[in-house]
Amino acid sequence: MNPASAAPILPGQWLGMLGGGQLGRMFCFAAQSMGYKVCVLDPDPRCPAGAVADRLIVADYRDETALAELAALCPAVSTEFENVPAQSLDFLAQSTTVSPAGRCVAIAQDRVAEKRFIESCGVPVAPHLVIESTDALNAIGDAAIETVLPGILKTARMGYDGKGQVRVNTPAEARAAYAEMGGVACVLEKRLALAYEVSVLSARGANGAVATYPLAQNVHIDGILATTTVPAPDAAPALADAARAAAATIASQMDYVGVLCVEFFILKDGSLIANEMAPRPHNSGHYTIDACAASQFEQQVRAMARLPLGETRQHSPAVMLNVLGDVWFDGDAKDQPRAPAWDEVAALPSARLHLYGKEEARVGRKMGHITFAGASLDEARKACVAAAASLNIALED
Ligand SMILES: Nc1ncnc2c1ncn2[C@@H]1O[C@H](COP(=O)(O)OP(=O)(O)O)[C@@H](O)[C@H]1O
Ligand SMILES: [Mg+2]
Repeated sequence: MNPASAAPILPGQWLGMLGGGQLGRMFCFAAQSMGYKVCVLDPDPRCPAGAVADRLIVADYRDETALAELAALCPAVSTEFENVPAQSLDFLAQSTTVSPAGRCVAIAQDRVAEKRFIESCGVPVAPHLVIESTDALNAIGDAAIETVLPGILKTARMGYDGKGQVRVNTPAEARAAYAEMGGVACVLEKRLALAYEVSVLSARGANGAVATYPLAQNVHIDGILATTTVPAPDAAPALADAARAAAATIASQMDYVGVLCVEFFILKDGSLIANEMAPRPHNSGHYTIDACAASQFEQQVRAMARLPLGETRQHSPAVMLNVLGDVWFDGDAKDQPRAPAWDEVAALPSARLHLYGKEEARVGRKMGHITFAGASLDEARKACVAAAASLNIALED
């Protein structure tokens, strides 16, 4: 089936979602409020989207019987899970429309392919070496390794939230760290002096239309997103335009359909370096639910259903604060979780609380987020600082 020319899938029909985490849950909210029914496939019967979906198929992502059941019910399927096997998407594509396509997800899942693809779009990436095997690393001289030091060794696949990354300062450290990684494909990337980090969220329809959101400025702590501020306070309009144009080029060159987030580094000299991309709605785009005309999840629905894309216009300046499980372990007894002070958060007029319904709070686990959508960015920031103080969340590294 040629998805570009096919008729739209109208409300009342089923949409399928591979993955039932918080992104799947927020997708359900958006799809259902537009009148769709959602079938989620996830291996965990208690996954965050499970309590919300109209139907939950509990199965492994590679279970072809379960995938066939999803495809038979849903005329369109999308994914929320970063590491969903690209083969599963290809299998589904034999009998239903899948967006984004398996080949796009495969690029985003592999830092080597991702960097190559981004460079082919004329967008710069960090200086790096590709290390495919121990033999290949042994063939690389110390002088070549020195060119990307001090560096970060990152596994090519399966890394997220700073996992699968080791900082190295000497060739010997790089070799030891690679051995520690078990000889899997990696990139050794030069550690850059970042001025700050930003991301561009975009949506691309099956007809090739692209909509980008305003530039978002992100603070990561210990490799995990802590806050997102939009519009990016440190970026001049020309830089924001350049980042949005780069993201739109990447989406178009991939012939991507769906929501795509591209993360960038801004260096001290103002230059723009693409870091990585996510083939799905992104944590840095959660603010769109409360601060934009159409949220990133509504765009995911629209793109996969071949509806026109929604408006990306931001109607309120916004700060998003991530809520990790750490917040539950802040009481007197450190090993006893206790309910955080949500009443204090609720007392802040601009605060919109989103909790993902995860039963067990664990340190480092994403449990929810709060969007402060204010009349001004200053007001949103002040509310964020107040909530962070109530919850004892650090706002800086
Ligand atoms: N080359 C680099 N130079 C400086 N900081 C980096 C570099 N690569 C990663 N980081 C920091 O680590 C964070 C996580 O790295 P990233 O490559 O985005 O992996 P993940 O998939 O875990 O999000 C980045 O947001 C940034 O703060
Ligand atoms: Mg990242």
